[in-house]
Amino acid sequence: MSDITKSFSGKKALDQVNFNLERGEIHALLGENGAGKTTLMNVLFGLVSADEGKIVLKGQEVRITSPSEAIENGIGMVHQHFSLIPTLNVLENFILVNVKGRKIDIRAQEIREIANRLSLNINLGAKVSTLSAGERQRLEIIRMLYFGSDLIILDEPTSVLTPLETEGLFKELKELAKTKSIVFISHKLNEVKQISSRVSVLRKGKMVGTIPNDENATIEALVKMMIEKMPSVIQKEPVEGGSAGPLLVVNSIKIYGKKNERAIDFKPPIKELIIGRNEIVGLAGVAGNGQRELFNGVAGLERVHDGTITFDGRDITRLSIAARIHLGIGYVPEDRLTVGLAPDLSVKDNLILKDIDKGEYKNGFSLNDAKLRGRATELVKEFDIRTQSVDTPVRYLSGGNLQKVILAREISLQPKLLLAYEPTKGLDVGATAFIRNRLIEYSRNGSVLIFSEDLDELLDICDRIYIIYEGRLNGEVRRKDFDVYLIGKMMGGLVQNAN
Ligand SMILES: Nc1ncnc2c1ncn2[C@@H]1O[C@H](COP(=O)(O)OP(=O)(O)O)[C@@H](O)[C@H]1O
Ligand SMILES: [Mg+2]
Repeated sequence: MSDITKSFSGKKALDQVNFNLERGEIHALLGENGAGKTTLMNVLFGLVSADEGKIVLKGQEVRITSPSEAIENGIGMVHQHFSLIPTLNVLENFILVNVKGRKIDIRAQEIREIANRLSLNINLGAKVSTLSAGERQRLEIIRMLYFGSDLIILDEPTSVLTPLETEGLFKELKELAKTKSIVFISHKLNEVKQISSRVSVLRKGKMVGTIPNDENATIEALVKMMIEKMPSVIQKEPVEGGSAGPLLVVNSIKIYGKKNERAIDFKPPIKELIIGRNEIVGLAGVAGNGQRELFNGVAGLERVHDGTITFDGRDITRLSIAARIHLGIGYVPEDRLTVGLAPDLSVKDNLILKDIDKGEYKNGFSLNDAKLRGRATELVKEFDIRTQSVDTPVRYLSGGNLQKVILAREISLQPKLLLAYEPTKGLDVGATAFIRNRLIEYSRNGSVLIFSEDLDELLDICDRIYIIYEGRLNGEVRRKDFDVYLIGKMMGGLVQNAN
């Protein structure tokens, strides 16, 4: 691909990008969220038409104007969000790929052979909705091979996988690379180091360079290529207790889960979760131990069946979500696009969503658009949200920028307590450091309850950590006593403490 340029609403997402892929290599395409990785590969796959530039495939210049043309040319792409139809079964999902001139006669035997060659199990009759993320991805890969792709693009394939599934995928890719060429899009440096033969780095729409993945391509060297300037990491000023009394006390609560089993059941020795003023309190635990229910319970999204939640001296156990927001509880939820944001609304509308009741933005019965626009523009700048404009629908933003939009909105409301559920999950190094710094800064005025599966993150920024295991608090550790092994054991239910 040479001199590829592409603008969206006047801003360059790709600026004269050169990229070459050799036969039989696994070529990593690395870059921060919003760098242009997906757009570049969408150009190759015929989903986005470039404004300038040319593509030479196997020695011949080609014009690819649609995915079906790409597939005819032997190019396949697995997107970050899968393109399978969950209500159909596996075999039916093969028929969906509509290649011009090819009759719809899907040869089940051939599919099985491809799967066997890769030692993958596949049940052609299974409904796609019953498959795990790893199995769906495998299915997409087999589907590409079936349609003859020998250039395979995987867009952030590991973001939906467990560590074990990632290991499996890497084995498959190494096998595949014996006969195919693979583009592996990622922002995760250790994965890129592990799997690729060469690495190309995009930064803000420009190709920084392509280097072999050898001993010179250290993590530090790759970070330097990826980001202009690594945000320096702010240190939290430690808080001990606090004189104004606790901000939040969650006492002896019970929350029933979906199937009426007890998702949360706080009982002695630790029956209270307490958050002091200006404290950052972490919740450590393996996913599925009740952390989601606890966060939703405090935010008012989940019914609390027993016990009390006291916030700023008031019993809020039965208050509505709106009343809790009004009292000063902000929420950065797990599911960014569906719970945290309205995907089809613009960046501006999402940023000011919770401000529109305020008098200062009203103009009689309508809204003062100029004022709201100004406010949104300020927030975009302050939170370094990479978007073409404030009018871009948020669903076009990359993960890190979606998270910044939610954080900007929630922090700008100046809540007393911010609930942050996996705030940096799936983000690149730059965005992660940025968000951690904002949380620490924010704690000068408010308090934070954060859940993260990344224990290092909690150790870095928290004053205290509670460990949750099977719906109860299994331990509480203060900063001066932080110890990875101890916390790890508590997360596994092996040790309990109550000091
Ligand atoms: N269809 C689109 N409309 C408007 N802007 C877009 C569209 N697709 C991508 N962008 C913008 O182009 C830039 C690059 O995005 P993308 O290629 O998705 O980055 P990456 O995959 O590296 O995270 C971002 O600023 C993104 O908001
Ligand atoms: Mg992308």
